[in-house]
Amino acid sequence: MPFLLPLFLFCLILLLPIYLLLSTTRKLPQNTPPGSFGIPFIGQSLNLLWAMRANTADEWIASRARRYGAVSKLSLFGRPTVFIYGQTANRFVFCGDGSKLSNQQTDSVRMVLGDRCLLELVGEDHKRIRNALSSFLKPDSLKNYIGKMEEEVMMHLHMHWHGKSNIKVMPLMKTLTFNIICSLLFGVERGSVRDTLELYFQEMIEGIWSLPLNLPFTRFNRSLKASAKVKKMLRHLISEKRAQLAAGASSHQDLITCLLTSHGGQLASDDEIIHNVMLVMVAGHDTSTILITFMVRVLANHPEIHAAVLAEQEGIKKGGAFLT
Ligand code: HEM
Ligand SMILES: *[C@@H]1O[C@H](CO)[C@@H](O)[C@H](O)[C@H]1NC(C)=O
Repeated sequence: MPFLLPLFLFCLILLLPIYLLLSTTRKLPQNTPPGSFGIPFIGQSLNLLWAMRANTADEWIASRARRYGAVSKLSLFGRPTVFIYGQTANRFVFCGDGSKLSNQQTDSVRMVLGDRCLLELVGEDHKRIRNALSSFLKPDSLKNYIGKMEEEVMMHLHMHWHGKSNIKVMPLMKTLTFNIICSLLFGVERGSVRDTLELYFQEMIEGIWSLPLNLPFTRFNRSLKASAKVKKMLRHLISEKRAQLAAGASSHQDLITCLLTSHGGQLASDDEIIHNVMLVMVAGHDTSTILITFMVRVLANHPEIHAAVLAEQEGIKKGGAFLT
């Protein structure tokens, strides 16, 4: 089930990204943890990727912990890495004061998304960007997007579901999720801009968890090219939005206008806006797609759950024609 890959990797990379500053070529000090760096550059990356594709990543992690204990070294996505496991390790990571550890993504994530995205930032920078993003994502604001979301869902069902006896849910949910993202984040509605952006975006996301091998015809190379095109489109969009705002448009249209105006434009750089808008695109896309796909699967396989959900929805519909 390859579609689980990004989600698993996302969680894993956030939990275990403690890169050693040691170079593999230097002589290692006595106190480095057990384990080997494996084949140069590739290390254990393919091994882990295969386990994820086979949906056995949990077992991969558990067996590594059985073999080497709670702390071991390995090499992932081109970097020497420390693997840590268990309660004490979690406390060390999540309750630290930031003086020993800081966030860092794999080279591929950083190069595809950009070095000013939230996942790369620490301290005051992280706080500033996080506040700006959460002013758009907080529950109070989410209320404002329900109308747009419902419109996209109804249009989607009409175009792709009605009158069909057989559909492939996962690819359709990718499209639906993408369309909602475009509408809410960028204010980009149906049309050729959205279609082009979707093509580039899908290509970009396919290489985001890959070995950072920038050679012709690698997935990573394709992903970088697509990322450059997405960034170019976003830069263009930003200057359009800026002009609209100067002409008196509302700052609450979408995430870009929101970021352009938050704290009186304190979130100054266009790069920061672009990198973080891309982060939210990626963070919301596969996660939501997978979640909705599994929900549809449960509804399809369990008639009693389907009936109960249907009854609940009919009840909500009695309240009015549109969702609130
Ligand atoms: C089923 C859906 C989702 C799942 C399972 C999920 C899961 C996660 C996880 C595990 C993290 C890491 C948390 C941490 O290490 O602190 C995270 C962070 C994040 N997610 Fe989600 N997510 C989902 C949907 C979304 C959506 C829809 C958005 C945006 C519209 C989003 C935006 C973000 C952002 C921006 C971060 C980084 C926060 C930070 O570093 O401060 N996610 N998500
Ligand atoms: C992709 O690979 C080619 C050939 O090595 C290289 O010239 C190009 O710069 C790469 N693309 C990107 C976006 O790095």
